[in-house]
Amino acid sequence: MIPTISLTSEEQELEHLVVVISKLSKLPAAIFSPAEKKYLKEQVENHKKEVISFNRLDYMVFVFFVRGEKDRAKRLETCRKAGDKMAGCLNERKASRVAVFDPEGLCDEVVAVAEGMALGCYRFLKYKTDREKESTLKEIQIYSKALETIQDQGQAISPPRAARRASRQNHIPDLNILLEAVSRCRDLVNEPNSHLTALSFAGMVEQMAADSGAIAEVMNRQKLEALKMGGLLGVNRGSAEPPTFTVMEWKPARAKNDKPVIFVGKGVTYDTGGMNLKPGDSMMNMKCDMAGAAAVAAAVYAIAKAKLPVHVIGLMPATDNRPGMEALVSGDIITMHNGMTVEVLNTDAEGRLILADALSYAKKFDPALVIDLATLTGAAVRAIGKYGAVAMQSKAAGELASLTSSGFEVSERLVEFPMWDDYGELVKSEVADLKNLGPAEAGMITAAKFLERFTEYPYIHLDIAGPAFLDKPDSYRGQGGTGFGVRLLFDFVSQF
Ligand code: BES
Ligand code: MN
Ligand code: ZN
Repeated sequence: MIPTISLTSEEQELEHLVVVISKLSKLPAAIFSPAEKKYLKEQVENHKKEVISFNRLDYMVFVFFVRGEKDRAKRLETCRKAGDKMAGCLNERKASRVAVFDPEGLCDEVVAVAEGMALGCYRFLKYKTDREKESTLKEIQIYSKALETIQDQGQAISPPRAARRASRQNHIPDLNILLEAVSRCRDLVNEPNSHLTALSFAGMVEQMAADSGAIAEVMNRQKLEALKMGGLLGVNRGSAEPPTFTVMEWKPARAKNDKPVIFVGKGVTYDTGGMNLKPGDSMMNMKCDMAGAAAVAAAVYAIAKAKLPVHVIGLMPATDNRPGMEALVSGDIITMHNGMTVEVLNTDAEGRLILADALSYAKKFDPALVIDLATLTGAAVRAIGKYGAVAMQSKAAGELASLTSSGFEVSERLVEFPMWDDYGELVKSEVADLKNLGPAEAGMITAAKFLERFTEYPYIHLDIAGPAFLDKPDSYRGQGGTGFGVRLLFDFVSQF
């Protein structure tokens, strides 16, 4: 469990304390002794330290100086990372509670500090028999007059247009919902295939729908056969477990959008590569190959639970990808949900096959916009690494601009790659309509051009293979599943 964030109006005494200020002159003088003030001054002036900490008798005090970084996104990210660091110290001290004091009215920064603290406390310890590494921090109490005023006026919920960037993330109940959703997403991604099949994934999503007020429908193999989902069924052919296709919908009474926004997530519970078996270590972390579907489930969960006034639908095709007696082999031709034929040249390019069926199915909802999230290609990882996702769009330039700005805001950054028609030529087949494999170069783009052929609406494709899963810990993103995409989608629809 990650800690809960709350707003408190009473000054607490004798507990771990974080003070967030912009410069020394803003130090709330009353709460520091002359010796402490001298120490702080010395540390700031001589060592240019950002976080200065010292012990009082039985608690710690941190003073975090928010530097004058002009770029809002960078400044907030610095705050989250500092939050993670401080949470680490507090956990070492076995602290259960911390007060975060905002004497200056740096609302967004203080919230970002709390956010980084909370996310940094995530651990995946389900299969550890000793829980010693469990984080002890359970409560983050923000003490901020300015933030309280905003909440009271309801500004955080529907802020005026001009000010919305400044206050929209500050609604603390929604923030707790969102962070819990991120934690659920990480749990799903970290769950190994031995404990998470397509069926049990669908069951988890049904539970998330029940817990949030969304509705979920799971389509089983029979239904998928009736719908002629040849991509999903084809990838599943080597598997001992049946595929599923889960639809999760949040449709509030007064939605701001007439037509739904659809999120599609790649749900490959494990990717061995199929008959084109992945060599060596490249299979190691392939339990992460359903991170797109997990992010979609968690985003719809958070949106529903926070009752955001937007109509959203999540589509989650799920299966594992394995070799087997019945498995697809190179050269096989399958017929997709929309009737197009695909020559399967490499069974390890399975993501686009299950996504294509879902994208074609999305059409029946007459969507305003479809965004898919998929751990789709090694090419995306090689291009930009773990620090952001590769984005491409067709007929959705404006939408991608807005999503990109959300990406900076929450530090789930996007970088756009081209969708030039030339790349589309590279996935045309001699013997079928399309082939699932392009040349060695620009693999993330040919994958997107393949998917585009199954779309007939404004469309954004996010290749999250880099940032979805980390083999080494990185600040508040942790190790393993990061939950990439959840905060991004939540922020995006809260701008509607
Ligand atoms: N799931 C992988 C992509 C991946 C790579 C995810 C690294 C996370 C980290 C995907 O199904 C895959 O195998 N892609 C192939 C496609 C190729 C055969 C065209 C790849 O990128 O090598
Ligand atoms: Mn693959
Ligand atoms: Zn895959």
